[in-house]
Amino acid sequence: VKGGYDHFMLKEIYEQPNAIKDTYRGRLLVKEGIIRMAGIDDNLDRFLNANRIIVVACGTSWHAGLVSEYIFEDLARIPVEVEYASEFRYRNPVITNKDVVIAISQSGETADTLAAIKLAKQHGAFVFGVCNVVGSSIAREADAGAYTHAGPEIGVASTKAFTTQITVLTLIALKLAKANGNISTSNYQYHLQELELIPEKVKKALESDKHILEVAKMYKDAKNCLYLGRGYNFPVALEGALKLKEISYIHAEGYPAAEMKHGPIALIDEQMPVFVIATKKGHYEKVVSNVQEIKARKGKIIGIVTEGDVDVKNLADHVIEVPDTLEALSPLLTTIPLQLLSYHIAVLLDKNVDQPRNLAKSVTVE
Ligand code: M6R
Repeated sequence: VKGGYDHFMLKEIYEQPNAIKDTYRGRLLVKEGIIRMAGIDDNLDRFLNANRIIVVACGTSWHAGLVSEYIFEDLARIPVEVEYASEFRYRNPVITNKDVVIAISQSGETADTLAAIKLAKQHGAFVFGVCNVVGSSIAREADAGAYTHAGPEIGVASTKAFTTQITVLTLIALKLAKANGNISTSNYQYHLQELELIPEKVKKALESDKHILEVAKMYKDAKNCLYLGRGYNFPVALEGALKLKEISYIHAEGYPAAEMKHGPIALIDEQMPVFVIATKKGHYEKVVSNVQEIKARKGKIIGIVTEGDVDVKNLADHVIEVPDTLEALSPLLTTIPLQLLSYHIAVLLDKNVDQPRNLAKSVTVE
């Protein structure tokens, strides 16, 4: 069942190149310059006339929503709010029939997300589902949707669901950006080409696995870890921290790198590993100066960097390289080493990777 892997989580991490390909297959038509998605095409007016998009989700799916906020706003210039479904449903939110609500859920059964979309529908919003499980409650309740084609995800820690959610949301954002004229034809085409290359680059990122195991051995006994990123990679920092805490039970926090000086920097000493996502295109110089601040306080620095990086490498205790890509697509690559790192630390600590304590694969109660 585990296809020769020790755990479902590792199998699912390694399935990502194919899962991403399966998710864009038939939708991403690079030569024709077309993104084909019936759920969007059939409802294009709803999207183009929307006042804003509200994304509702929980956990890792909420992190995918945060990544999409950057893409929708940056490329399609559509205002986006990303909400925890559990908060949204209970705070008497302002919803109108000019809102589009995107619900993201791997299982399609998360109680809070389901309740949030029922509420949104009552107020006349158009609800679009991004689910992995076909025929699930959220998929059925939504007005329209697009499935991620990740295949079954068994490990409680979500991995391939996350990257395929980002893939679907990227396709939607690019499609809307093209339709509303906010992206130039050349930039649109460039994103299409680069998205098609992502599965190969994920494969390349997976090749660092042995090196990541060595890094994991060095930090497995940490009591606390910080994860920092900026822009598109801020949600990846949150996701890296969530992955570590849920399967290894090590306390970890993700922050936007620049927020460090507003509090978390006080935690940094020689005991504190700090995982910094510092890819070449995303505010690189600013992240490098954050890395210098960590170093000055003797924190241990593990950089997730673009292949061939020099500046972070010179400062960091370790670096893990990922291939170069467009900034908007970089979360699809930077998240890979963080998944592997959590996996190896949990295995080294002899934790139940696929079924961590206190957690269920789908949270069908609120
Ligand atoms: O099935 P969903 O995507 O709606 O699930 C949402 C969260 O429960 C889920 O992502 C959870 O946070 C995972 N265990 C994270 O790895």
